[in-house]
Amino acid sequence: MIIKSAEIITSAAKFSQLPEPDRLELVLIGKSNVGKSSFINNILSRKSLARTSSVPGKTRTANYYLVNDDFYIVDMPGYGYAKASKKDKAVFSKLIYDFLDRRDNDFIVFFLVDLRHEPTKNDIKMFSDLLERDIYPVVVLTKADKLSKTKRKAQEKIIREKLELDEDDIVIPFSTEENLGRDAVWEFLEKYI
Ligand code: GTP
Ligand code: MG
Repeated sequence: MIIKSAEIITSAAKFSQLPEPDRLELVLIGKSNVGKSSFINNILSRKSLARTSSVPGKTRTANYYLVNDDFYIVDMPGYGYAKASKKDKAVFSKLIYDFLDRRDNDFIVFFLVDLRHEPTKNDIKMFSDLLERDIYPVVVLTKADKLSKTKRKAQEKIIREKLELDEDDIVIPFSTEENLGRDAVWEFLEKYI
C-alpha cells in the first residue's frame, strides 16, 4: 500500500463524538503500553503521527487517522493500566465498549498483545468480549524484537493457547524496531481496502 496521505481527523472522548460512520475503520485494541500508537506510526511510515510514550496511559481518546482519503485507522486508549484513576478507567472502558456495542459501521479489529508476556486477565476478558460480539480480530504480537527468534515461536504458541486460537487464526508477530509484520498487516488489509 502506498501511503499518499495520513492525517488526524478527530479525537473523540466519547461515543457521540465519533465521526460519521462512512468509511471502513481499522481499530486497535490492546492493553496500555502494548504499542498501539507505535503500530500506527510504523505501518504508515510516519514517525510521530500518533503520540506514543514509555509511560502507559498515553492515548486518552479514540483518535481517527484518515489514510489516503479512503479509510480510518482508529487508535484507542489502552485498558488495564493499574495506576490509572478509577474515573479514567471507567471512561476508557466505556468508550471501547460503546464502540464495540454501538458503532454502526464496517470495522476490522486488530488485537495487540505483548509477545513477551502471557496475555493478562484483562487481555483474555477483552478477547472473549470481542468474540462474544462476533468480532474476530487479527492478533498482533508486539515488541518481537525484545525476544530471540526461538523464544518468539515458543511465546507465540503459549499466547495462541491462552487465547484459544485455532490453527488458521491469523497471528502477526510485529516489531517497530525491525519493521517486522508490516507487510503481513498490509497484505491482510488490502483484501478489504
Ligand atoms: P497507550 O496509549 O498508553 O494505551 O499505549 P500504546 O499501546 O499506544 O503504546 P505506545 O505505542 O505508546 O508504546 C509504548 C512503548 O512501547 C513506547 O515506549 C514504544 O516506543 C514502545 N514500543 C512500541 N512498539 C515497540 C516495538 O515493536 N519494539 C520495542 N522495542 N518497543 C516498542
Ligand atoms: Mg497509545
